[in-house]
Amino acid sequence: MQKNLFVWAHRGASSISPENSMTAFRLAEAAGADGIELDVHLSRDGRPVVIHDETVDRTTSGSGLVSDKTAAELLDLDAGSWFSPDYANESIPLLTDVLAWAGDRMRLNIEIKSEDAGLVVLEVLKAFPQARILVSSFNHKLLFRMRQLDHSLPIGFLTDSRFWRLAVRRAIACAAESFHPQQKYVTRSLVSCCHQHNLTVYPWTVDSPSRKNSLRRIGVDGFFTNIP
Ligand code: G3P
Ligand code: CA
Repeated sequence: MQKNLFVWAHRGASSISPENSMTAFRLAEAAGADGIELDVHLSRDGRPVVIHDETVDRTTSGSGLVSDKTAAELLDLDAGSWFSPDYANESIPLLTDVLAWAGDRMRLNIEIKSEDAGLVVLEVLKAFPQARILVSSFNHKLLFRMRQLDHSLPIGFLTDSRFWRLAVRRAIACAAESFHPQQKYVTRSLVSCCHQHNLTVYPWTVDSPSRKNSLRRIGVDGFFTNIP
């Protein structure tokens, strides 16, 4: 029997709606995604906001660094028209709004993009004890720091390195729950090494049906996709 793979909607249902928007998250849930991946930066006034880039230029009507704007200024921007005029009412979500929406229903993979957001996210999560979360980052120093502060935090070790053995060793040292490799580096050896160490394997970002199938055969536990 085929095992059920865990489908992470990458930035929500981002192939059919503006990435990292509430609409993208709702559509991902409607499509049957098991979890939602989202990206977090910090506003000038210290609120975690859900946006991928360091600047607002690509995905909103504004320009400049996320970290130079207050949360109120960020929420005022049109974060949907860049994708389609149909989404002109979309705004950048606050992480707290997504956590409140997800409740204990939807698992969230919170990817920390800016170093200063890491410890703030830990504080924010205290108000959402029911949340089902997995925290990840390319910033491994930050992941180790978060692990020191929270021994039970579910951590996904995110890497774009082709030197996966080294990355797996670090993931084990960080007591990560899962390993998130760039999909092109995923092989049977990588998966079996992770499984030997109780790390689930979620490659990113996989949209082609044939690659989804080949990864299934290789034995991954799920994947990130823009097409959940
Ligand atoms: O977490 C997987 C993936 O989201 C990492 O890359 O650039 O899409 O945030 P990026
Ligand atoms: Ca991401």
